[in-house]
Amino acid sequence: MINGVKLLPSVFAADQARLGEQVREAEAAGADAFHVDVMDGRFVPNLSLGPLVVEALRRTTDLPLTAHLMIEEAERHVDAFARAGADLIIVHPEATPDLHRLLQSIRRAGSRAGIALNPFSPLSLIEEALSSAEAVLLMTVSPGFSGQEFLAGVLPKILRLRKLLGDASLAVEIEVDGGIDVETAPLVVAAGARALVAGSAVFKHPGGIVQGMAALAASVRRAAPVGGTASV
Ligand code: DX5
Ligand code: ZN
Repeated sequence: MINGVKLLPSVFAADQARLGEQVREAEAAGADAFHVDVMDGRFVPNLSLGPLVVEALRRTTDLPLTAHLMIEEAERHVDAFARAGADLIIVHPEATPDLHRLLQSIRRAGSRAGIALNPFSPLSLIEEALSSAEAVLLMTVSPGFSGQEFLAGVLPKILRLRKLLGDASLAVEIEVDGGIDVETAPLVVAAGARALVAGSAVFKHPGGIVQGMAALAASVRRAAPVGGTASV
């Protein structure tokens, strides 16, 4: 945690043949939790990881694990991800007919519940659900691939979400996901993000994972967080 901001490496961008080794390296370099991208080839065009990977990571690290479900019919898979060891399960309102029921089922399965929102999806879609979530993940790219360009148009939405949560006195963590690197991390932190998901910036850094984490941490340290600094 740097100045109250968490770094969450997204293992989708890791070398899958050396996943355990790379996760241990990122943990030693200061990761706060790991983010696992789950894609179904329907809600998003790509296919990716499943409960098997969450379960394997659970045996590799003691850090919290997040399952970011970019899938239709997520309700059918919540139990499997909870059983595999996902501490936080994040779902998209754009992919479910009943967000309330889905968040409830995550809780019932014993995990914390989070809501993810695509770049062009309005906050009004989740406003009523904020008190039922532990985290909101604002997508700063269209979900489906790592290595995409950060969408700066989402920055005002981070500010608006921060105000919404503040006005309602809700302690919901604001996470961002997509295109986070040394240039964009300070922008999202200044806007109010407190957990940064980063794939390429960590696992595809030319100098390796340790350097990628260090560069990201340094950029967060340079940022000016709104609402004061939680810790140093
Ligand atoms: C995109 C995923 C992201 C992705 C981030 O659909 O949700 O978590 O892995 O990768 P980068 O940081 O490379 O944009
Ligand atoms: Zn993700």
